[in-house]
Amino acid sequence: MSRLHAHVGTIRQLEILCALQEHGSVVAAARALHLTQPTVSMQLRKLSEAVGLPLYFQVGRRLQLTDAGREMVSSAREILSCFERLDMRLTKMRGLTAGTLRIAVVTTAKYFIPHLIGEFCKLYPDISVELKVGNREQIAQRMAEGLDDFCVFSHPPKKEEYLLTEFLPNRLVAIAPEQHELAGRERIPLEEFARAPFLMREAGSGTRYAIERHMERFDCELNVRMTIESNEAIKHMVMAGMGVSILSEHTWNVGGEAGIAILDVEHLPIKTNWYLARLGSKPVTPVAEALLEYVQREERLKGLKKVEL
Ligand code: PGA
Repeated sequence: MSRLHAHVGTIRQLEILCALQEHGSVVAAARALHLTQPTVSMQLRKLSEAVGLPLYFQVGRRLQLTDAGREMVSSAREILSCFERLDMRLTKMRGLTAGTLRIAVVTTAKYFIPHLIGEFCKLYPDISVELKVGNREQIAQRMAEGLDDFCVFSHPPKKEEYLLTEFLPNRLVAIAPEQHELAGRERIPLEEFARAPFLMREAGSGTRYAIERHMERFDCELNVRMTIESNEAIKHMVMAGMGVSILSEHTWNVGGEAGIAILDVEHLPIKTNWYLARLGSKPVTPVAEALLEYVQREERLKGLKKVEL
C-alpha cells in the first residue's frame, strides 16, 4: 500500500478539496456541501497533513491551490467519478431497468424538477415518469393519500410518518418592477417594503405560507393588493407595474429576470430548502430508491442552483 493510500483520508475529504477548488473559499465550499465551516477547515487540514504538503494558500479573500493541491483535485475527480459509475452499475444489478417514478411537486418546484428528472432519466432511459403539479395544499393531500413515490415541498407538512430528504436551497426574494422607486436601494426596511402594494399567491400556496410566517415573525403586515394563483402571472403583473412581491428565485429559471428588479430588503430573502418527502410506511420501489440516491449526490444538483444574489 502506498504512503498516500495509507494516509489520505476519506472520499469526503476529496469532495471537500474539489469544492474548495470550485468555490474558492472555505465558506463557499462549506455552503455547497451543507457542512459547517469548522468541519471543512478541519478536514482540509487533515488532508494536508496526510499528504505532507500544503494544498492551498490564501490570496486576498480567495484560496488558491498549490501544484500539489491541483494534482490532488485532478485525481480526486477521477476517483469520485469512478465511484459514481460503480454506483450506477450496482443500482442496475439491483434490478433497476424499468419502472415508473411517481412524483408530485408544488408549483414552484416545476422550474427545476423537470431538469433533475431529465438528467436522472438519461441514466435510466427505460423508466417512465408520472409528474403531478399543484400548490402546497393539493400536494399535501396527495402525500396524505400516499399516491406518489415522492412529493417535493419546501414546507412539508409535519407528520411523524413523513420521511424527508433535504436536497436544495430555496430562497424567496423580494421583487419589484425595474423602474420602481425601491429598485437599486440598499437595505430597504421591511416595513417600507411592506407598504408597497403586494401581489400574493393564493391560499394553499407554500410560498404564501412562508411569506405569512416570515412577516408574522417580524410583526409586519403586507399591503396585499391582489391574490394571484400563479408565479408566472405574479411575475408579469410585477413587470406591468401592478406591485411588488416575494417569489422563489427558481421562478426566474424560466423567462429570466428581465423586467423585474430584485430588491435588497432587510430580513429578506426568506431562506428555505427543498425536500423530497415520502411516506415511511410505503415500500420504496427500486426507481424511487435510485432517485433518492441521485439527489443525495451534491454534484448532480449543481446545474439547478442559482448564483447567490
Ligand atoms: P407553492 O409552494 O408553489 O404552493 O407556493 C412552494 C413552496 O412550498 O415553497
